[in-house]
Amino acid sequence: MFSDADAAALYDLLNPWEPMSRSSDRFYDELVGDADSVLDVGCGTGAMLHWARGHGHSGRLVGLDPDRAALARARRRTDVEWVEGTAADAAPEAAFALATMTGHAFQCLVTDEELRASLAAIRAALRSGGRFAFETRHPQARAWQDWNPSHARELTGPAGRALRVWHHVESVTGDLVTFTGTTAEPDGRVLRVDRTTLRFLEVAALDEFLAAAGFVLEGRYGDWDRGPVTAASREIITVARRM
Ligand SMILES: C[S@@+](CC[C@H](N)C(=O)[O-])C[C@H]1O[C@@H](n2cnc3c(N)ncnc32)[C@H](O)[C@@H]1O
Repeated sequence: MFSDADAAALYDLLNPWEPMSRSSDRFYDELVGDADSVLDVGCGTGAMLHWARGHGHSGRLVGLDPDRAALARARRRTDVEWVEGTAADAAPEAAFALATMTGHAFQCLVTDEELRASLAAIRAALRSGGRFAFETRHPQARAWQDWNPSHARELTGPAGRALRVWHHVESVTGDLVTFTGTTAEPDGRVLRVDRTTLRFLEVAALDEFLAAAGFVLEGRYGDWDRGPVTAASREIITVARRM
């Protein structure tokens, strides 16, 4: 038995929010620190907003995610607003200085319709001039090629439980990659399998969606030190502004 709550706890163990040591987390932490109100779309377990509040952010902080088990962990902090829903469900408040999608959450937006509806809702949640910051893995780096059982990890999971975790890519169709994540006992006995499809948009396609939704590009980076996107970049990091 490995419940949704266990999976959410494992996510936090595997993906600690550490702006002091991880440049990706620092990138977002600086943006959050500069914004008086933040909507974190696909907030998951809420680690970014937990950190921000815990380190003195005094403005409005809202986390939005469709995953109930992840949100239940987020709700351990009650001085942040937590909302269950997808990006497309973001309320049209025209209120936020910053919206974020961290941890490649943007790649969960798979269909054109979902992308359009999500971007429209995020834009409507932002005040005029508000920023939307997110990253998507650059397809040229083919990150999914490392998502296979030969990269399995042995680790100590929630409640000190010894675990083995690995990924397996089922299909690569156009810009969609479908893969499973397996959580198992150390001897390989499977506890749970989660299937995910992620979209790997090219830069030009991404920018068409952003422009059509009413965003202008403010910053575009290929790494977390704000270097340009090059033929070697693994990330497409975007800071867009609501027109
Ligand atoms: C890899 S996790 C990233 C979580 C968190 N942002 C982080 O940096 O650790 C992706 C998150 O996106 C959420 N998600 C999936 N589809 C979504 C959608 N349509 N709108 C908003 N969030 C979504 C998932 O529930 C999950 O919590």
